Amino acid sequence: MKCIKLINILGATLGTGIQAQMQNSKYPAKQPIINVVDVKKQNGVMCLPDYFPLQDYDPMRPASIPTYSLPKFDEDKYTGPNSELDSDILDLLNSLSLEEKAGQMIQLQAGVFIGCDGLINTTAIEYMFDEWKVGSILEATQNRRSRWNINSPQRFANFTNTIQDIALKKGSKIPIIYGLDSIRGANYIKGATIFPAPVNIAATFNLNHAYNCGRISAKDSRSAGVHWAFSPLADVNMNKIWSRNFENFGEDPYLAGEMVYHSIKGLQGDYKNDRSKVAACVKHFIGYSSPLNGQDRQNAQISWNFLLEYLVPPFKRAINSGVATVMENYGQLNFQSTISSKKILIELLRDELGFNGTLVSDWGEVNSQFYRYKTAFDIEDAVRMTLNNGSLDMSMTPDDVMFAKSTINLVKSGKVDMKRIDESVGRILQLKKDLGLFTSPYSDPKLIDTVGSNQDVELSRDAARESLILLKNENNVLPLSTSEKVLFVGAAFDSISYITGAWSQHWQGPNEFEGDKVYDIYGESINSGVRNITGEDTNYITGFDINGFKSRGYQKVVKSAKMADKVIFILGEKPSTEEVGNIKTLRMAEDQYNLIKSVSDLTDTPIILILAQNRPFSLGELSSEASAIMNIGLPGPYSGIPIAEALYGKFSPSGRQPYTYPKLDYQSSVTYYTPQWNEYDPEFSFGQGIGYNNITYSEILVNSTELRPGHPISVSVTAKNCGIMIQNEPVLMFTTQLVRRFHVSELYRLRAFDKKLISPGESYTFNFILTAEEMSFINMDMNRVLSKGPVNITINAFSKDAKIAQVYLHEN
Ligand code: BGC
Repeated sequence: MKCIKLINILGATLGTGIQAQMQNSKYPAKQPIINVVDVKKQNGVMCLPDYFPLQDYDPMRPASIPTYSLPKFDEDKYTGPNSELDSDILDLLNSLSLEEKAGQMIQLQAGVFIGCDGLINTTAIEYMFDEWKVGSILEATQNRRSRWNINSPQRFANFTNTIQDIALKKGSKIPIIYGLDSIRGANYIKGATIFPAPVNIAATFNLNHAYNCGRISAKDSRSAGVHWAFSPLADVNMNKIWSRNFENFGEDPYLAGEMVYHSIKGLQGDYKNDRSKVAACVKHFIGYSSPLNGQDRQNAQISWNFLLEYLVPPFKRAINSGVATVMENYGQLNFQSTISSKKILIELLRDELGFNGTLVSDWGEVNSQFYRYKTAFDIEDAVRMTLNNGSLDMSMTPDDVMFAKSTINLVKSGKVDMKRIDESVGRILQLKKDLGLFTSPYSDPKLIDTVGSNQDVELSRDAARESLILLKNENNVLPLSTSEKVLFVGAAFDSISYITGAWSQHWQGPNEFEGDKVYDIYGESINSGVRNITGEDTNYITGFDINGFKSRGYQKVVKSAKMADKVIFILGEKPSTEEVGNIKTLRMAEDQYNLIKSVSDLTDTPIILILAQNRPFSLGELSSEASAIMNIGLPGPYSGIPIAEALYGKFSPSGRQPYTYPKLDYQSSVTYYTPQWNEYDPEFSFGQGIGYNNITYSEILVNSTELRPGHPISVSVTAKNCGIMIQNEPVLMFTTQLVRRFHVSELYRLRAFDKKLISPGESYTFNFILTAEEMSFINMDMNRVLSKGPVNITINAFSKDAKIAQVYLHEN
């Protein structure tokens, strides 16, 4: 439909003289029909098919200078959205017409500006800005039928700058803000440094990695003219079947909150002055991570006190960090639509948490009230409820202008107050000013050279190194020695894509036809990492594909395993996210399971399992049959070398489980903060993980055994490295209130963590602070209360070397 409209516009601008010339031309008046496989004709224009597996590779690469420096900022300083608008923004707001204001509130996806031939359609852009005064654009064109498969920063910048240029000349002439899902680096820009998935960053228990990932992501985004990152996710992983666990920072509210805080600091920093920074967008507010049946976007029923105690804290931390924007959540919470919920978007988000910034909807969420959820009679009704009941500022529409159209009608007919519109448009304009868009609307070409710098790549590798979780290592089967004959099995061994996952290159990761080609020179597989270390070709059989189905060499594996000293299986999962990634069970594919079982039954060769999965598949008997297990999560395109280094003992692993790894489906909603008398018997516990060194711990020292409000106590413990390698040692401090009257307390709660490098023979004393206030909890009356009782402080719960000290918690 859009194409018809545009051709008409074009026709109208052609003078009659030209038309006469065209009629008299010796060339055929009509476009000849030349059939080409997989190309369709639409309104006389040759178009790419709706779905095509192969797009052209952008031949351009950024220069990737080896080192560079960016402005420094004291991150302890607060900077974030203010409750008041600047006077120039207020003036601008007052000068806008209703149509211009309504336009600011819509965000369209880039595909709207891609012609059916896969190229940028400037006529469409001009039309949209002239007619609808669009405020914002999102998305990478490669997800939206462009003929370029992942854009270099140069090409991406040209795209965003072209739109910006038109925005500044047409309609309201207000610069656009361009948003992108950059959840682990600027993952849609060719050459930009992609980091391990957030769940891996959480496993490092090192906040520097969250910060670095944010910082580099911001700079790479800005090089492409992108000002807004839809990141980080502050959802807490409640259901392990859910397809988006890897995008979050695990199951603990405190850990997630700290990671979220530092990601935002990295992304935003001094964003009101520094043009290498972007606005962060914490998402999805709220309750997304607890779909009752584990399927994406399905019903969440969460008691309000549970929500306040476990799900709200990471968002609160994000707002305290000064996050500029928030994205609301899909669907309903307790049957009420989030987007039009006064309780969620006004009382909780704005009043209680004090968020003053811009609130954007998730994809098509306003329209979904009518099309999908049936909670509105029509689109206008959905817009009316969204505006009058909630506090949404911008609608990620993302394909149409119905939101703007309805807003105009609703204000004109007196159903929505202009004040409500001003509130939102004021926030959007202020955000644009804060990001410097009125003075530097275009991308900064100088930043392009820094994209893919070795300096960034090494930080990604460091994050990957620290995120590898060694869960089991019987008889010191790891590390490997280069003289051993090792057999590697599994498609994920030889793929960058499979150890990176979704939200990389494409929404669902590269497709099967593209494979690793789309990564170009930006990454390495485990296979090449191992070759790099051993200096030899690897002994590798695919055995099973990424779905765990029989593949090349399946029948040969047992025989080859017999001849090997050790066999390493890499268990992967096809990259996916959101509804595309829904699965019904955590049961592993049978072919894969049976193959490993046969090697275990029919050979004496020690088995090592490497888990490279979006989520924790059940290991069954393989758990006890394997000599070693390493959970590598989705460590990203620069993890081939780090994984090989870990396997061959170039460093000692230091990752810890940021979530509970269930044994079976029935445990998929079990977290470690279950009531203390409940069963907690997972495959691997929260916080579990070991290194290659023997680390011994002193008893815990506390400066007082009486814990009272206003009187924090200090807790210390000394770790000694009795091994022969340097150990990066994370220390986790938990509490358990042994008796809590009326409201059962949890098995454990994480209260603090730290991580330090300890050389062989050396010791390090970790110091923590514990407050009585932290021990408070939300009761059924929604009050935060303290209840007296004995409390155990446990260092490294669930580890065989756990240390415990007891204190008494007083109410005053
Ligand atoms: C996802 C968001 C994302 C948005 C824009 C949605 O489907 O839930 O996380 O930011 O799309 O791509």
